[in-house]
Amino acid sequence: MANIKKIGVFTSGGDSPGMNAAIRSVVRTCAYLNVECVGIYWGYQGMIKGDFKLMNARSVHNIINKGGTILKTARCEEFRTKEGRKKAYDQLQAAGIDAFVVIGGDGSFTGAMIFNQEFGFPVIGIPGTIDNDIFGTTFTLGFDTALNTVVEAIDKIRDTASSHNRLFFVEVMGRDVGHIALNAGVGAGAEEILIPEENLGRERLLESLKRSRSSGKSSSIVIVAEGDKTGKNIFELKEYVEANFPDYEVRVSVLGHMQRGGAPSCYDRVLASRMGVRAVEALLEGKTNLMVGVQDNQLILTPINKAIKGHTKIDKELIRVSEIMST
Ligand code: F6P
Repeated sequence: MANIKKIGVFTSGGDSPGMNAAIRSVVRTCAYLNVECVGIYWGYQGMIKGDFKLMNARSVHNIINKGGTILKTARCEEFRTKEGRKKAYDQLQAAGIDAFVVIGGDGSFTGAMIFNQEFGFPVIGIPGTIDNDIFGTTFTLGFDTALNTVVEAIDKIRDTASSHNRLFFVEVMGRDVGHIALNAGVGAGAEEILIPEENLGRERLLESLKRSRSSGKSSSIVIVAEGDKTGKNIFELKEYVEANFPDYEVRVSVLGHMQRGGAPSCYDRVLASRMGVRAVEALLEGKTNLMVGVQDNQLILTPINKAIKGHTKIDKELIRVSEIMST
């Protein structure tokens, strides 16, 4: 067992639903195991400034159901510098914090890994991002909730699309990956799903839309991942389709940050609770520089450098299903 008496916990980077449930789990696991727990506000920025607050089991009541993060979050440029990280280390030392749990995505984990290498400071990561773009886990916290939010929004768009016989391009988040687009697209019955992993070109999109029109479909939904490169952007794609296929009246809907908010789904709450327990236990077992993930419904630990460098794979079977469903 490692000699860890005080654990810091913080959220970093873009928020995601389920982060609060993970904070609650880390704090309560510490309380359960008689380890002190400190909330670090504003991610690495707060670490540099020493924005810390001692937390107990009651500090995290009534948050399991809340979106966002009670500890706030930020993307911090200063932590990218050696001087910034040294300031953060000094603050942690002064507060007697022996280890930390970082809840975030790629950038947050990179910072934790470098920090661990520089100061030998024990760190464990919990993947929190709606994009699901972290290797070493089938699900990141917030992904399931975001999917439900997107599907609900598209169901509504479908109503108006169908009333007007319109074609809608709906942009969903996913800077580099198409997991939200693909899964929500299948869940919402989209006609076409455009993702960065598969650029099939604008001509094929046009052909597919023409085919579906002639097969009797009067309205359609095309989901476009933010990072997709089929068009320069979703508005340019709309113009291209309008110019080449005037039969369709086209509208664009960019769902944006509403996808990052809202009460976490039950799946995300349970996953967050499990991951928080495992993260604290791992630190107390003397483990470090690892990320907690879930695979085949079992919690696993993956070295952080693998989690950030490994690429998540798009589900080919789901692509096939979506093609068959849009017949
Ligand atoms: O990483 C999650 C994410 O939601 C991306 O899908 C999106 O591109 C980005 O964050 C938006 O970040 P910000 O809130 O800083 O604009």
